[in-house]
Amino acid sequence: MIILGIESSCDETAASVVQIDGNRFSVKSNIVSSQIPIHSLYGGVVPEIASRAHCEAISNVVESAINESGTSLSDIDAVAVTFAPGLIGSLLVGVGFAKALASSTGKALIPVDHIKAHVAAAHLEHEFDDQYYLALVVSGGHTSLYEVINNNEYTELGSTRDDACGEAFDKVGRLLGLPYPGGAAMDKLAAEAFGSTDTSYISFPSPAVNDDSYDYSFSGLKTAVLNYINNYKQKNKTDVIPEDVKRQIAGSFTKTICEGISKKLENLIIHSKYKGVKKLILAGGVAANSHLRKAVSSVCIKHKIELIVPSIKYCGDNGAMTAAAGYYNYLEGIKADSYLNAYASDEASHIYLNSLKEKRI
Ligand code: KG4
Ligand code: ZN
Repeated sequence: MIILGIESSCDETAASVVQIDGNRFSVKSNIVSSQIPIHSLYGGVVPEIASRAHCEAISNVVESAINESGTSLSDIDAVAVTFAPGLIGSLLVGVGFAKALASSTGKALIPVDHIKAHVAAAHLEHEFDDQYYLALVVSGGHTSLYEVINNNEYTELGSTRDDACGEAFDKVGRLLGLPYPGGAAMDKLAAEAFGSTDTSYISFPSPAVNDDSYDYSFSGLKTAVLNYINNYKQKNKTDVIPEDVKRQIAGSFTKTICEGISKKLENLIIHSKYKGVKKLILAGGVAANSHLRKAVSSVCIKHKIELIVPSIKYCGDNGAMTAAAGYYNYLEGIKADSYLNAYASDEASHIYLNSLKEKRI
């Protein structure tokens, strides 16, 4: 079957046509229109501006995705759309467009949870025979560990208690005066620190919550970096942070994140009923981070777990992952009608999807 995936949960308007044969996905087109240049002026996503930019971009993005796919609208069997979680105004644009397209063409409309879509991104390039695995989603809005059964049943095992990992990367990047969004620039700066023989690392608080849970907390780490920068400026009577100190901060911050995330992941693998799990998916925008990829890979190698991480182009928000997750909903008979709404929270997303499952029965 062929699914058109539409994604607009934050600051990327994206659409993709994906063909699915059995458990093999083939991405026919993948168009992402980023709003980064617009939001960089403000140093963060401005929700109202994001919704307007989605409105302006969505028709062209969907049209390009269909044109570039080598298929036509009539070949497409279903329209999958991210309906939650995310910025409500942004989500509404994709949902409204998908509803109109599906109802005017008589195609099935499939609601997709954005977090499940990030995990499904790992399926685009790997055939999944084994349908039981753990997933770690690290993005601008989430840092969560899940147990996944049958590709579609998610149990949250741990999550962040405050900021998300990507949010922390962006905020620290901003403190260091790096281009928005800070994540990718922090990745490069940390690589310079790790590559240098004379880096001494600053001790920052771990994001791994100090208890038996599998939860994270990034706000203390972010504040510690802010305090370090303020103290440095005061002590040296300057407003400028030298490049070598920026590198040292980026390296220390990234090292602390990688160690904290790995620690909870390892606790999960070793101490619980998840011992013996064979597969882990690392997904979400921050999964593009080269150092985190290496750190999680080391944990997986040590515990003989197969690690699957999407290619960089499928880590950030895109429509192909929406189509892939839409397929798993389709297999379960989860379909929406023209009353489909958008929801900002994870909880509302679960309640709505469960209500659709009940209707299906
Ligand atoms: O998944 P995503 O595209 O959007 C959300 O669902 O939130 O994630 C965006 C986040 C941003 O915080 C961005 O800075 C971060 O992913 N990011 C990175 C890297 N590339 C993107 N963070 C660290 N290192 C990277 N290379
Ligand atoms: Zn995302």
